[in-house]
Amino acid sequence: MRGIVFVGDGQAVVTDELQVRDPKPHEVVVRMVNAGVCHSDLSVLDGTIPFPTPCAMGHEGAGVVEEVGSAVTTVALGDHVVLSTLANCGRCSACAQGLPTRCRSSIGNMTRPFTYQGDPCFNFAATSCFSERTVVDAIQAVKIDPAVPLSSACLIGCGVITGMGAVLNRAKVAPGQTAAVFGVGGVGLNAIQALRLSGASRIIAVDTLASKEALARQFGATDWINAAEVDASADAIRALLPGGKGMYNPGGVDWAFECTGVPKVLHDAIDALEWGGTAVAVGVPPAAALLEKSIFQSFVYIDKGIMGCRYGTARPHHDFPKIAELYLQGRVLLDELVSQVYPHAEFHTVLEHMHEGKLARGVLAF
Ligand SMILES: NC(=O)c1ccc[n+]([C@@H]2O[C@H](COP(=O)([O-])OP(=O)(O)OC[C@H]3O[C@@H](n4cnc5c(N)ncnc54)[C@H](O)[C@@H]3O)[C@@H](O)[C@H]2O)c1
Ligand SMILES: [Zn+2]
Ligand SMILES: [Zn+2]
Repeated sequence: MRGIVFVGDGQAVVTDELQVRDPKPHEVVVRMVNAGVCHSDLSVLDGTIPFPTPCAMGHEGAGVVEEVGSAVTTVALGDHVVLSTLANCGRCSACAQGLPTRCRSSIGNMTRPFTYQGDPCFNFAATSCFSERTVVDAIQAVKIDPAVPLSSACLIGCGVITGMGAVLNRAKVAPGQTAAVFGVGGVGLNAIQALRLSGASRIIAVDTLASKEALARQFGATDWINAAEVDASADAIRALLPGGKGMYNPGGVDWAFECTGVPKVLHDAIDALEWGGTAVAVGVPPAAALLEKSIFQSFVYIDKGIMGCRYGTARPHHDFPKIAELYLQGRVLLDELVSQVYPHAEFHTVLEHMHEGKLARGVLAF
């Protein structure tokens, strides 16, 4: 069958020599219809996210259930599903608390359900949705209303939940609070629209590409800073939200969402915080990147903090259908995230367009 395989040295091949095994009793085979290309896919190719090869790529997809294992009761043939990357156990303490991103079996559980040119081939993020068909645990197949086009629904599976969940699930932003979002890509745009839903009073979008301003405002940004045109984006943010006179550089935002994966930008995000503010680390930097900050100046006396956020602290079976519902009510934008749909064979064109900064999201069709 057709698919896209990471073969090492920065190379991905579009192939028709991929096969996937039959489902086990608790698994589901999904015929992929659409898949978004997330920055994390680029990070696999450029080594930012180290991964063994060969590996069937893709982790943000939607499709139709084609086959179910004998023990599966949650989905049936023909159901429209968005894939969750969390193959969580459903039974541990974290799962029982509604925190599947903290389930120990939800990370590092790579297996080799594929063969590429006859040799065993890893899955990526337990999903591998850049393939005609994939096999996932039943808990990863989240049924959604078929009224949502799959070309938009696929984005819920990573960019949308990562950005919206960072605001709604992890930060729990309150009405009237202020926020900055660094990086207006597929993830950052969704942080922006979740801030709009939360009633944030100021939503300051920051990016280095002037072309991102219009998109940011469409999704709900109230203010825009072109980081390429200012010396320090934190100073530009403080100029918009001055905090009066006092020690420790008052002024800035209550929340700063780092959605670029560039280590220096996390510094900027912390510098942009008002007293009591919190920076949320969403972007994935290179594995060796370190954060060096004055503990005294940046955190202690002014109640500031920093928190990590994986996959929007998602509860996929709650969040995905809710996002679909809000989309159908016109309150969450999904179609507007899809800059272009490409035949899967044009994967390398999507990569070029991403590097050129042309896309909110590029979506593949199978
Ligand atoms: N925490 C998670 O679970 C999770 C999930 C998905 C993606 N991610 C990560 O989130 C990050 C964003 O992903 P995406 O798909 O939205 O990427 P994207 O490529 O669509 O968008 C990134 C944006 O950041 C902007 N940018 C780059 N450098 C900048 C800088 N110095 N200052 C301001 N803006 C800058 C780019 O112009 C672009 O608009 C990536 O690091 C990705 O790996 C994390
Ligand atoms: Zn992703
Ligand atoms: Zn668990």
